[in-house]
Amino acid sequence: MALKSDDTRWGAAARTFHWLMAILIIVLGIVGLWMADQPNSLQKIKIYAIHKSVGLTVLALALLRLSWRLFDRRPRDVPMPAWQAYAAHATHALLYLLMLALPLSGWLYNSASGYPLQWFWSFNLPSLSGGADPALKAIAHAIHEWGFYVLVLLLLGHIGGALLHHFVEKDETLVRMLPLLRRRQAAPTVASVAAPAMPPPGPVPAGVPDSPATDGD
Ligand code: HEM
Ligand code: HEM
Repeated sequence: MALKSDDTRWGAAARTFHWLMAILIIVLGIVGLWMADQPNSLQKIKIYAIHKSVGLTVLALALLRLSWRLFDRRPRDVPMPAWQAYAAHATHALLYLLMLALPLSGWLYNSASGYPLQWFWSFNLPSLSGGADPALKAIAHAIHEWGFYVLVLLLLGHIGGALLHHFVEKDETLVRMLPLLRRRQAAPTVASVAAPAMPPPGPVPAGVPDSPATDGD
């Protein structure tokens, strides 16, 4: 499986980024909504710490993914109306934006609350606000929470579009992003186009040699 994408298929790197980040972001959102409603306890502090560390990991992955995207290519769109291609590309751009905005607003919220920030109990990250700031804290919290609701809406369109392509249009859009499934039909290769068709089995006409190797013996 090639690391880089080609004209018709996403490469291994793009697919790994896509599915790893999709799982992490969805789990972070569900855990985030749940943990915020829990009563204060030692366990809640631990879950917050893990949410923040995984969220920072998503931020690092998003930066790596965007850098890789600059070097990689994008498979050609399958044939579809121009408005659909435009809507899909706009959704992808907004998803990339939220992959950065959600962890950054979480980091800002944490900083403006006056809390320190550690990545998986290993090293500290700097404050983005230079200390507690109640007004900034409220803004960062609103971006973090409402940004996630916007993400959910975009994902409904994104996932709905992918399923529509797969089950209604029956094209390659979803399959070429999946890690394991085979393609619906193999695209013709250069070899299969260039190779002459095999003659049907039957008696060899008189005067035609059996094989080129015996010709002239
Ligand atoms: C079940 C969930 C998901 C499905 C079925 C799905 C499906 C797909 C498919 C089929 C593509 C390729 C589209 C194409 O070739 O034009 C794609 C691209 C993309 N997906 Fe998802 N996706 C899912 C979840 C997510 C999540 C959670 C995110 C991020 C929050 C996300 C972000 C993206 C982005 C940014 C692209 C564009 C990649 C690029 O152009 O570099 N997806 N997705
Ligand atoms: C893609 C990454 C992230 C996603 C999808 C995400 C999602 C969420 C969601 C949906 C909530 C619940 C919002 C609420 O009801 O208040 C939440 C809460 C929270 N998140 Fe994140 N988060 C991410 C990254 C981060 C990061 C990097 C940090 C900090 C460094 C962070 C810190 C927090 C905190 C402190 C809360 C609790 C807010 C409260 O107590 O009301 N998050 N997160």
